[in-house]
Amino acid sequence: MAPKKHILVTGDRPTGRLHLGHLVGSLYNRIKYQNEFECFFLVADLHMLTTHYDRVKEVEQSILEMVLDWLSVGMDPEKSTFYVQSQVPYITELSTILTMLCSVQRSERIPTLKEKIKDMGVGENYSVGLLGYPILMAADILMFKATKVPVGEDQLSHIELTRELARRFNHLYGEYFEEPEPIISETSRLVGTDGDRKMSKSLNNCIYISDEPKAVQKSVMSMFTDPNRIRADIPGKVEGNPVFIYHDAFNKDLEEIEDLKERYLKGKVGDVEVKKKLTSAINKILEPFIEKRKEFESRPDEVKEILHEGTKRAKKVAKENMNEIIEKMGLYIP
Ligand code: TRP
Repeated sequence: MAPKKHILVTGDRPTGRLHLGHLVGSLYNRIKYQNEFECFFLVADLHMLTTHYDRVKEVEQSILEMVLDWLSVGMDPEKSTFYVQSQVPYITELSTILTMLCSVQRSERIPTLKEKIKDMGVGENYSVGLLGYPILMAADILMFKATKVPVGEDQLSHIELTRELARRFNHLYGEYFEEPEPIISETSRLVGTDGDRKMSKSLNNCIYISDEPKAVQKSVMSMFTDPNRIRADIPGKVEGNPVFIYHDAFNKDLEEIEDLKERYLKGKVGDVEVKKKLTSAINKILEPFIEKRKEFESRPDEVKEILHEGTKRAKKVAKENMNEIIEKMGLYIP
């Protein structure tokens, strides 16, 4: 018998365009996984609402933008299922069931909750929905009986909770869920162009996947480098220098990187040359993405169709699984 194929669930909240941090941290891996696993890629619009419940007017546009990013880098709806979370109501149903298995105290202990409360500046006035964020995520994962979940490091506590909830369900109602394994990407945190913190839209330190060459140039030229190197003839630091972190991540010409590093260490190359070469390297990577994006942009109905089809498929699988879950629990009209 052929070994059982792993099921993978992962996705993004549709809060805006995706950037190079997403590319190296998750998108490249998804392109690989879609050939190895049965992949479900979700547009986590309900998760977006936990913090941006007032942004409903922008949702449709944000979803389309994000899915365009997915498609442009080569995530393939022929190989995997793209779907919109809110349109698969079985997920919310499962989430409600899972809330019964999780104490309030347990969900308050999740570290991302504190961060989100701080970011939103809501103090004690956070919503029940925000508190339930990781439980909803557990439902996303368990709904499809996923065994592999690629996430950023910051999401690990959510996977731990998912595993606990799976165990608790199995203990109460009989074996059903397998405990999913997280997959943490090796490059899960790309530093922003400010060289200070992780690349993030809210910090305004991003290069976007959909950025045109001019925009990339502008961002790279204003990037932070070695702060102690005030002139090109002063030996500089390569390690931890964001410009070289990006060269290592995006420049495919290893000889060029070596040469630049060597000269940088000796104070024999200016920042401008290092940055110009970085700009070309990044643009070389983004060029085919921009091409592909334009193709899809010219056929907006196709993107919608992809989401409709994927959501239909996800719904079918979720419905089958939900029936099994309900049966396990013995929840039916007597
Ligand atoms: N919470 C995840 C994030 O912010 C997105 C997400 C929602 C997710 N549901 C998921 C990721 C299920 C993996 C599996 O990045």
